[in-house]
Amino acid sequence: MPSYPHHLTGDGPLNPFPGIKVLERRIGREIPHRLGSNEGLDMPHRALREHFGDAVAEHVYCYGDAEALGVRQRLSAQQGIPLDHLLVDAGADSLIALALRTTCTPGDTVVSTAGTYPTFGYFAQGQGCRLVEPGYIEAPGLLAPDLEALAAAAHQESAQLVYLANPDNPSGHLHSDSAILKLRDALPDTCWLLLDEAYGDFRDDANNDFAAKTLPGVIRLRTLSKAHGLAGLRIGYAIADPDVLALMMKVRIHYAVSTFTQAAAEVVLDHPAEIHQHIAEVKARREQLAAHFQALGADVLPSATNFIGIRLPTAELAEQVNRELLEAGRLIARPAHPALGHVLRITAVADALEPGQLAILEQAIKENA
Ligand SMILES: Cc1ncc(COP(=O)(O)O)c(C=O)c1O
Repeated sequence: MPSYPHHLTGDGPLNPFPGIKVLERRIGREIPHRLGSNEGLDMPHRALREHFGDAVAEHVYCYGDAEALGVRQRLSAQQGIPLDHLLVDAGADSLIALALRTTCTPGDTVVSTAGTYPTFGYFAQGQGCRLVEPGYIEAPGLLAPDLEALAAAAHQESAQLVYLANPDNPSGHLHSDSAILKLRDALPDTCWLLLDEAYGDFRDDANNDFAAKTLPGVIRLRTLSKAHGLAGLRIGYAIADPDVLALMMKVRIHYAVSTFTQAAAEVVLDHPAEIHQHIAEVKARREQLAAHFQALGADVLPSATNFIGIRLPTAELAEQVNRELLEAGRLIARPAHPALGHVLRITAVADALEPGQLAILEQAIKENA
């Protein structure tokens, strides 16, 4: 079993502010008079009401439910994940930081693929961890995190944690569920697997049984930023064993997910048909975008996400295209990591399909095909 930092394994630290919602649940009744939380309850909020309407103003006065029960209940009912295996926080990024805070101390070694979603390495280094980065597997039609190399590095470097985005950003690659289980088996027993499934909703098999599973030694992360369109509100969730989540709750910023965000997430989750339609439309656009660039001769990577990755012949060309597009007011993405400097990533939004929108990239592809 992977370990936790020593300072978290005793009784403390104890959260001094569980919040009124948690307290109400503990004592089993409502507390109608909030006289002790020093909130601005008497603020008339005339400006806010005028701008956003009364309904919004009602959700801003009070500190939120630190346990996000309403959101967790919906996720649990819809996906068959036990309620006590779910923790809600301010997006997958926040959960990456939280998972690191829960499992690692400064000086610990962590492993992730060179060029993958960079926030993990950024946060890990910010916490004083040593980052080891094996490369991707690169082959025609394939750019994939190298699971064997991740496991080998974890052993060689006595890693405390391995990070894997699945589906991956920026390659879009999806490793199968059995490959993930094999990776977990191949890791040292003492090593955590942080499995970032921010794009899991775009998998063709998104709601299979495996998606709801809690895996020993694994912290799974998901987000409502992508398939649910709530990136600006900051909300995501972790799936892990209750004892892991209890440790995460010890170091969590308790009101990080606002009252309004939780209310909005509940409304969105209560309308699954809209989410499913959005996902289907994103996938259709992704395939259209991929087909368009493939027809021009581009090396388009297979993607199980809401974007496509395109490999250009050189990092210099990718840098030039990226820069010229930006100068023309079009922001696509190029990984900052030198290992993937030749990759460009385009989100499958309708704007990307507008004729001529990415003409600079199209021209570069045609010239280098
Ligand atoms: C792999 C991966 N993880 C996490 C995130 C961040 O998600 P959130 O908005 O929930 O913080 C992203 C966003 O692009 C991502 O690509």
